[in-house]
Amino acid sequence: MSIQNQTKLNIGLFGFGVVGESLYKVLEQTPTLNAHISKVCIKHPEKLRNAPASLFTTDAETLLNDPNINVIIELIDDSDAAYSIVTRALTSRKAVISANKKLIAEHIEELIGLQRQYNVPLLYEAACCASIPVIRNLEEYYDNDLLQGISGIVNGSTNYILTKVFREKKTFADALLEAQLEGFAESNPALDIEGTDAVNKLSILLAHAYGVIVHPQSLLHNGIQQLKAEDAAFAKEKGYEIKLVARAKKLQNGKIAAFVLPQFVVGEDQLYTVNNEYNGVVIESSLADKQFFYGKGAGGFPTASAVLSDLSALRYNYGYEYKKLSNNNTAAITSDFHLKVCISFKDLLQVPHDSFERIIEWSSNENRCHVTGIIHCSELVNSKWWKQPDVSIIVYPNGIIENYRPGKTNAGVNLELAEQLV
Ligand code: HSE
Repeated sequence: MSIQNQTKLNIGLFGFGVVGESLYKVLEQTPTLNAHISKVCIKHPEKLRNAPASLFTTDAETLLNDPNINVIIELIDDSDAAYSIVTRALTSRKAVISANKKLIAEHIEELIGLQRQYNVPLLYEAACCASIPVIRNLEEYYDNDLLQGISGIVNGSTNYILTKVFREKKTFADALLEAQLEGFAESNPALDIEGTDAVNKLSILLAHAYGVIVHPQSLLHNGIQQLKAEDAAFAKEKGYEIKLVARAKKLQNGKIAAFVLPQFVVGEDQLYTVNNEYNGVVIESSLADKQFFYGKGAGGFPTASAVLSDLSALRYNYGYEYKKLSNNNTAAITSDFHLKVCISFKDLLQVPHDSFERIIEWSSNENRCHVTGIIHCSELVNSKWWKQPDVSIIVYPNGIIENYRPGKTNAGVNLELAEQLV
């Protein structure tokens, strides 16, 4: 349905959690937007809400069948329920705004199809990096040929925890609890901690940056759950900090290397300055070098600000065109590259020696061993040893290595020597 400039936006809102309530408050104070929440569908009517009781219902059909509601905003955390709401709304030709990363990432192909079939927009700027307008920029501004890479801190909760644990010496459990109390974390915080939320966002960014549709679970990823205090100490010795980074890089053969892994970040890297619940995205383009987007990546008002921006975009009939996808682009994800990584572990038996193409550096004390080496990405994709609770993996800055040829890189110790050093 096309929404004319003067048409009132009558909103059916699903969810009244941290983001939904923030959006409600903001809309109350922004009458100029000519947007009004007609009804809010909630799951728990027993909860006390800071809005008139008449606004709420538990019946989704009341919103989906109301012909006066021309926009559905979906801000719930159950991605299966969100799938049915969003698909129903699109097939009913209602414009939809969603902040649901998991839903969009896992169903983007079908959701693109529905938008085209029913000629209605689905906007989801809030699904990646909350207040940072990264999706619309990747979609509109960056031509695929110019876009060399993206590095981003895209999950506010894990960044908050890493800041609190490594800089402020809080415990992991306390930092996580704070992230939950502040409303940054997912209802199931394992989605944050284990890198699932970040890889969902990376998969959405890949669609808009390169026109690549890839299921998030098929991308190489890990979270911060295995990192140890000794890893932070090792990083500090070398002048690094550890951040959870989503990375995509266009290789010389046109294919895309993409993963989410903890990474050492150097002081000169813009991502080094991104702390607490802030997100940051560095876009590398062949002409403009680097551009840095920075802003709050989680929380009620920052996320509501992106929803608000999508609402106002509906005024001028904005919808994603997925141009890079339509251009019959041949970009594809590849595992055919090497990574320079640090593997940290306690027991040598946990790490198969032949996983490394080369070992560059080895250090150990009574608590921990740190091995720096070169590993082929497919070794990580096809094995699980590096996911053991007592093993961690951290990628080095500029850690993606193309066309690696054994013996042609910087001098380092070989595997046999490393074994003798244990
Ligand atoms: N749990 C998410 C985060 C919320 O911490 O980034 C915003 O997507």
